[in-house]
Amino acid sequence: MALIEWREEFSIGIPSVDYEHKGMIRMINQLHEEMSATPSRDTVSDFLGEIHALISAHFALEEKEMREMGYDAFDDHKDDHERLLDEIRDIMDEFEENDPGEFAEELSRRLEDWFTGHFRTRDARLHRFLKDRDAG
Ligand SMILES: [Fe+2]
Ligand SMILES: [Fe+2]
Repeated sequence: MALIEWREEFSIGIPSVDYEHKGMIRMINQLHEEMSATPSRDTVSDFLGEIHALISAHFALEEKEMREMGYDAFDDHKDDHERLLDEIRDIMDEFEENDPGEFAEELSRRLEDWFTGHFRTRDARLHRFLKDRDAG
């Protein structure tokens, strides 16, 4: 079963952002799946690199959109992005020191917490802001 299922409530209403959110969820699910089958260190390491690149690019897009619309909670949202990127870097450092198999479950759990937490709070608030703006 997929670790994270896409839910309509995750939708922001900016097509390019929603598209990337779906791509990130797919990637995390794929990582989770590969991890269940005792992956090699290289497999996991490549994945971590790809996830980091995908997420950095996504945050840059979201921040650009927020800046352009004059979003009122920009600083808080950006801070949370920075926090998430730091955490991924920590995960990557820890991985270097750990057995890939033992590391698997912990990694999946942290990525899931991290994503769904950010979607439910910051990205959801951005969604409400856009809805109110378009309604008003
Ligand atoms: Fe975000
Ligand atoms: Fe996002």
